[in-house]
Amino acid sequence: MRAERLAYIDAVKFLAQRANIKMPDNSFDDSAQKLRIRIYEANREAARFFFSQLTAPTGKAALAYLRGRKLSDKTIRSFGLGFAPNSWTALTDHLRSKGFDAAELIQSNLCVTNKRGNLIDRFRNRVMFPILDVRGNVIAFGGRIMTDEKPKYLNTSDTPAFKKSENLFALNIAKKSKSDKLILCEGYMDVIALHQAGFDFAVATLGTALTYEQAAVLKHYTNTVVLCYDSDQAGQNATVRAIDILRKENLDIKILKVPNGKDPDEFLRSHGENGHIKFKNLLEAAGNDILYRLDRLRQEYDINTDDGKIKFMTEAARMLAFLDNDIERDLYAGRLCGEMSIDRKSFNNQIDKFIRSRNKKEDREEFRKIQNQLAGVNSGGERVKSTNVRAVKAEEALIGYLFRNPEMSESIRRQLPPERMTTDFNRRLYTSFTDRAMSGKGVSFTDFSGEFSSEENSRIAAIMANHANDISSNSGSEYISVILSESEKLSAEDLANESPEAIQEYLNKIKNKKSKK
Ligand code: UTP
Ligand code: MN
Repeated sequence: MRAERLAYIDAVKFLAQRANIKMPDNSFDDSAQKLRIRIYEANREAARFFFSQLTAPTGKAALAYLRGRKLSDKTIRSFGLGFAPNSWTALTDHLRSKGFDAAELIQSNLCVTNKRGNLIDRFRNRVMFPILDVRGNVIAFGGRIMTDEKPKYLNTSDTPAFKKSENLFALNIAKKSKSDKLILCEGYMDVIALHQAGFDFAVATLGTALTYEQAAVLKHYTNTVVLCYDSDQAGQNATVRAIDILRKENLDIKILKVPNGKDPDEFLRSHGENGHIKFKNLLEAAGNDILYRLDRLRQEYDINTDDGKIKFMTEAARMLAFLDNDIERDLYAGRLCGEMSIDRKSFNNQIDKFIRSRNKKEDREEFRKIQNQLAGVNSGGERVKSTNVRAVKAEEALIGYLFRNPEMSESIRRQLPPERMTTDFNRRLYTSFTDRAMSGKGVSFTDFSGEFSSEENSRIAAIMANHANDISSNSGSEYISVILSESEKLSAEDLANESPEAIQEYLNKIKNKKSKK
């Protein structure tokens, strides 16, 4: 869903098509999908129009602007750059003549209505940067003004076909690069200048700070992200935030520092023909995020005084205590102690102290989470009857069995009332499935997917997949008996009254099971 920017059911269709599996035809509402396709078409037509304007007499100044910024004709063409003329309705008229109606033009955010209720172009007198998704659909635009007026860039707002928090500029090109890394920049111009200089693995966010969704998309294509933000204060603050977000996705992070307060585009331009080799040197010199953080920390203290040195080393120890990798921690600790002439043993002791207090805090949080769970509140806020793993497993197996044998619904429903199911989700799925089957309605995956959230749909798909090859010789009755007997045994209320030690033991058991998988 994330990689292809599809709704759940569309992602299923997409995969089915790729695997050459026929999807059951049903009356699933695909009007949202149809609208998205119209928006892609309107955007593509708009991109063609903007591009044609750039080489027309009206676009003379815009073309000169781009060439003045040292973009070659080849670069302009490969990024499909264009020009939105200084007119109220040039694009609106053009798209109408191509058959797009007012609703489509507004939904695509290419046009807006003015005070008198007439449609007008949203982008006027701007150099246009089309934004493509990884499948090559034109999903949005950034438009730059050619003077110092504000706002410098105008971007497409979110539409049914575009979420700026989930897309990255030029990823459609970068994903095909031979490089195993991705460079993440702040600006469209930085990316374009980097590609022109031979770094075809540069991407950028779309006028906002990096999001967790974007980090997950990056992780889909690479293990190493090189952060290459502006070297001004704002850029450096953004770097620190981006590091935290990328770390959550377990990405290897490198920080590339562009010298002299320049952004990557300015740096490349200032070196002309030598741009490629100069930037390559920076790329090779890029250190990882720990070094970067230690560096920044060091700048906060005057390490020439004893007091500054002590404070810096204490904060450094606190930071290293948060690394999960012992070898990594040891490496930087050793290096720091060498540089600062500090005794290794006392520094390690300090780190250990921080690790212990960190663990205590994490334990407390974990414990609170469990207590909440046992009190019947799970992370989504829904009430659960108990956390009995054995029962949940049997319920899933039974649901899997039903998918394979829907004709058994009536008999199973008689033996097992929905109330006996452990989790709210299983109960709803079981009820919905058997209700549909008993009233002769379709029970293929897509028939009732509309009743469940996309996350729940994934769970349904997982249950179906996990149990697709089960062999049950006794009509599901073995699952039913497990569910019934477990539902007598253990309720959340019982467990919530247990001692913390007993709960801990129970937890360890579950954990061990998980890690054996
Ligand atoms: P910058 O101000 O660093 O611009 O904004 P830039 O990319 O270097 O552009 P040039 O070189 O001045 O032409 C970085 C990014 O932030 C977003 C854009 O995505 C831009 O590329 N931005 C900036 C906006 O969305 N709106 C703005 O008004 C400014
Ligand atoms: Mn710039």
